[in-house]
Amino acid sequence: MTKLSHISIAVRGINKFARLYENLFGIKFSSPKFLQSQKVNLSFGETEGVKLELISPASEDSPIAKFLVKKGEGLHHICLEVENLDLTLEDLKKKGVEVIGAPTIGGSGKRIVFLHPKSTGGVLVELKES
Ligand code: CO
Repeated sequence: MTKLSHISIAVRGINKFARLYENLFGIKFSSPKFLQSQKVNLSFGETEGVKLELISPASEDSPIAKFLVKKGEGLHHICLEVENLDLTLEDLKKKGVEVIGAPTIGGSGKRIVFLHPKSTGGVLVELKES
């Protein structure tokens, strides 16, 4: 069965958002971690089950910087965990799904790739290998 790994929220400032959610919901966030491949800072919220990911641009040419300009802060992507990323991608490509770039290493040290929202019902989907 497919597992929902995390829900990601794009923010301008991780600390500000983390303080708000700790204050409102008691969720504690990890200290931000820089991810070179996406030029972003990431932080994860301690929730049971599905994790909450905060993602903020580390530079102006980060894809997240462009997202924030276009859409503002808010929901960015959902991440589904799959056993075998290559087999999954092969299957999805046969089904006409547009994959964004090649798999890379994500914040958790696992292989990830993004699927274009036009192929996935308007939702940006990250696939992560378990
Ligand atoms: Co993610």
